[in-house]
Amino acid sequence: MTQTLLRGRLLSFVRAPQRLTDSESYRYETDGGLLMENGVIVESGPYAEVKAKAAADTVEIDHRPHLIMPGFIDMHLHVPQMQVIASYAANLLEWLNTYTFPEECRFVESAHAQRIATHFYDELIRHGTTTAVAYCSVHKTSADAFFAEAMKRNMRMVGGKVMMDRNAPQGLLDTPEMGYDETRQIIADWHGKGRNHVAITPRFAITSTPQQMEATQALAREFPDLHIQTHLSENHDEIRFTCELYPEAIDYTDIYARYGLLGDKTLFGHCIHLSEREADAMSEAGSIAVHCPTSNLFLGSGLFPLKALMRRDKPVRIGVATDIGGGSSYSMLRTMDEAYKIQQLLGERLNPLESYYLMTLGNAQSLSLADRIGTLDKGTDADVVILNAGATPAMALKMEVVKTLPEELFLLQTMGDDRAIVETYVAGAAAKAAI
Ligand code: GUN
Ligand code: ZN
Repeated sequence: MTQTLLRGRLLSFVRAPQRLTDSESYRYETDGGLLMENGVIVESGPYAEVKAKAAADTVEIDHRPHLIMPGFIDMHLHVPQMQVIASYAANLLEWLNTYTFPEECRFVESAHAQRIATHFYDELIRHGTTTAVAYCSVHKTSADAFFAEAMKRNMRMVGGKVMMDRNAPQGLLDTPEMGYDETRQIIADWHGKGRNHVAITPRFAITSTPQQMEATQALAREFPDLHIQTHLSENHDEIRFTCELYPEAIDYTDIYARYGLLGDKTLFGHCIHLSEREADAMSEAGSIAVHCPTSNLFLGSGLFPLKALMRRDKPVRIGVATDIGGGSSYSMLRTMDEAYKIQQLLGERLNPLESYYLMTLGNAQSLSLADRIGTLDKGTDADVVILNAGATPAMALKMEVVKTLPEELFLLQTMGDDRAIVETYVAGAAAKAAI
């Protein structure tokens, strides 16, 4: 197959940055070349060296002076909530009951699920996101549409049919048996097909009976390599109600632990109000706390103690995500801008190197997928984003005075959105141009 050679400034991380001056934590090639073939990166390095290794008929695309980075990874969002965004609610539970649950009922119709899945991937690509970890609705149709569209677009996606059997409208409920059987069927139909990964997805403890939690545990035992995703400790009323439903548990985290769901492939959305005991338990299990800043602010859920969790003696692994439609932007740049502001309010600093690490390699490591995505390493998936820090007149004006790479990254994060995404390459193909 024909090779494609991208030229520009290559930036990727090799580990978590310790401080703003930690230049060992990343690789930066000011005149770089990235050679892609059959969906994979085959060479990466100084342009002249990579060019010398390229085939004679290689298609060359000059992205100078833009940045070339690994595609962004979004660790938590909801496909059936694309039309829930911007719903005016006082808090999480009101938002779920008034807007979100009724909207998700529509996904019983496969035509609707397919239409929204198409828009979903268009928005990810438009915003430079090449891998996402998604909740579908309770309906199998919604997961089928999600995975079919991922295969069409050749994207590496993680997702699952939500399991929920109480405390929601009838049209949104399965049963312990149905949730188990349909999840098993979805695994058989989609896991490992194309670049699809199925995640076991109990929505949260409020919407699952103990019997359904047992069914989830059975799935987790049968398929130990699969990711598990759910919600944890987002809102004070939610926490209170959850603990009432499971009085035998010592706290919210303990509910999931009791059903064997606290492990190193488990992604817990939010985790804003964890006790020290819960953070210790998460750390010991290697579970991931997924920070969703635009959602936390929009729903008034609270200020996630990201830096405090990272620097504990027992640190908690972190992911970052949009949480569409509680979240208000598909952009990981907008997401990290809000993450930065939340740390400011907590008297903490989140430096731009840390932000870009989290959106790429950090999230890939939290997914145990860093051998495939999140870097520009030879042999990994050719999922790449091209970033222009002068994308708008106001950004271009500010760029006139930007002197360093961290300053440029910070400008992109503070002012950037989909307009700063020049192109998104999915498995080596220009996908944004194709929308
Ligand atoms: N907790 C349970 N379901 C949801 C959801 O859809 N969004 C958010 N933000 N929190 C949840
Ligand atoms: Zn969520």
